[in-house]
Amino acid sequence: MSAPPRTRPRLSATFTPDVMSEIRRAAATGIYDIRGAGAKRKLPHFDDLLFLGASISRYPLEGYRERCDTQVVLGARHASKPIVLKTPVTIAGMSFGSLSAQAKEALGRGATLAGTSTTTGDGGMTAEERGHSQTLVYQYLPSRYGMNPDDLRRADAIEIVIGQGAKPGGGGMLLGQKINERVAGMRCLPPGIDQRSACRHPDWTGPDDLEIKIEELREITDWEKPIYVKVGASRPYYDTALAAKSGADVVVLDGMQGGTAATQDVFIENVGIPILAAIRPAVQALQDLGLHRTVQLVVSGGIRSGADVAKALALGADAVAIGTAALIALGDNDPALEAEYEALGTTAGAYDDWHEGNDPAGITTQRPELASRLDPVLGGRRLANYLAVMTLEAQTIARACGKSHLHNLEPEDLVALTIEAAAMAGVPLAGTSWVPGKGAGAAGF
Ligand SMILES: Cc1cc2nc3c(=O)[nH]c(=O)nc-3n(C[C@H](O)[C@H](O)[C@H](O)COP(=O)(O)O)c2cc1C
Repeated sequence: MSAPPRTRPRLSATFTPDVMSEIRRAAATGIYDIRGAGAKRKLPHFDDLLFLGASISRYPLEGYRERCDTQVVLGARHASKPIVLKTPVTIAGMSFGSLSAQAKEALGRGATLAGTSTTTGDGGMTAEERGHSQTLVYQYLPSRYGMNPDDLRRADAIEIVIGQGAKPGGGGMLLGQKINERVAGMRCLPPGIDQRSACRHPDWTGPDDLEIKIEELREITDWEKPIYVKVGASRPYYDTALAAKSGADVVVLDGMQGGTAATQDVFIENVGIPILAAIRPAVQALQDLGLHRTVQLVVSGGIRSGADVAKALALGADAVAIGTAALIALGDNDPALEAEYEALGTTAGAYDDWHEGNDPAGITTQRPELASRLDPVLGGRRLANYLAVMTLEAQTIARACGKSHLHNLEPEDLVALTIEAAAMAGVPLAGTSWVPGKGAGAAGF
């Protein structure tokens, strides 16, 4: 009797080629993988939601004749000089050090052209960034790298960073390759030595201390500047409630798809929750305190298009922030640079070794010959174009839903394509009136 035919070679769904490649890399090096960017695994996201649009029961607005406003005011709760933006799409905090001075300047120029704000980051405020940003939010971080009380006063708002979506509970990294004389000088660190940012503020242990810190910052800035509190999405109901109770004007909530300059891959892929799952609990917390729309909610983490913006706003956010998408608009991961990405052992679209400082696009680098490739004026124009398109897209959707302001979008305009997204976003599964998990209440978050 002849032998039975062999079965086709089968790849494991558990030990995938990616998993095996990482095991081999770990075995060869003995060190965890560090990288930039956000979670790469597939997660529930805004793609899992759809707008219903108007028909007989709803009345759409005419694109060329009827207004759909996009303006947003941030920080009117306590600040005497709140921030007024033409679009709800803002630029997230990204550090000078992780980014070149040219990239920081380009972000400021682009945001200013679009009538929105940009944000500093770990490592302080550069003169280029302040000079070219009409509205600049100054981050106050656990590391205090680059913290300068004069810059607090030079800023238009202050953002106390508790955490980031890519790494809630963790601090950042800036490897020695990127710590040149200027970056080191601003951070009061020696050049060329790997730096790890603190994961928590040195002078507080809980919300009571946060309240004192907020008041201290208000005193320093004469109660003029809005104070934001940024958290990585993990327990959004309680974190939002505590930030609002501590006196924040604005809560910034960053989901796990959110980019980072450099962190352990295991952290990026396994800690925190997607922004889709975080918005409704955060909004619920503000509603329970009677503070929804009084304390603004800015959300981020994988936002790419006007559709994402409209969906985030429909779920109850007041504005969004973008990091990775802004870098792509400047030229990050451009296929035109494919030969150079290949020389670095990667490919356009996958390049995430931002910590190494060899970015051919001149964005995540401090090497002068690479950084000078990025023209801040051109980069700023590209970013402004992209921001304009996102705003127009969000307006298009809002008009189709019959809304005269982006803030009038509401959960009722949305349905979900999957049960998971329906449960997380608290909207019905498409074609049904079923909202999975409805009735769980705050405790369910
Ligand atoms: C290159 C880079 C540097 C960053 N640096 C900081 C930082 O210094 N402080 C901070 O709070 N967040 C930092 N972030 C996170 C962003 O502020 C933001 O939360 C995140 O990028 C939003 O997600 P998105 O990239 O998917 O848009 C950084 C992100 C990137 C991509």
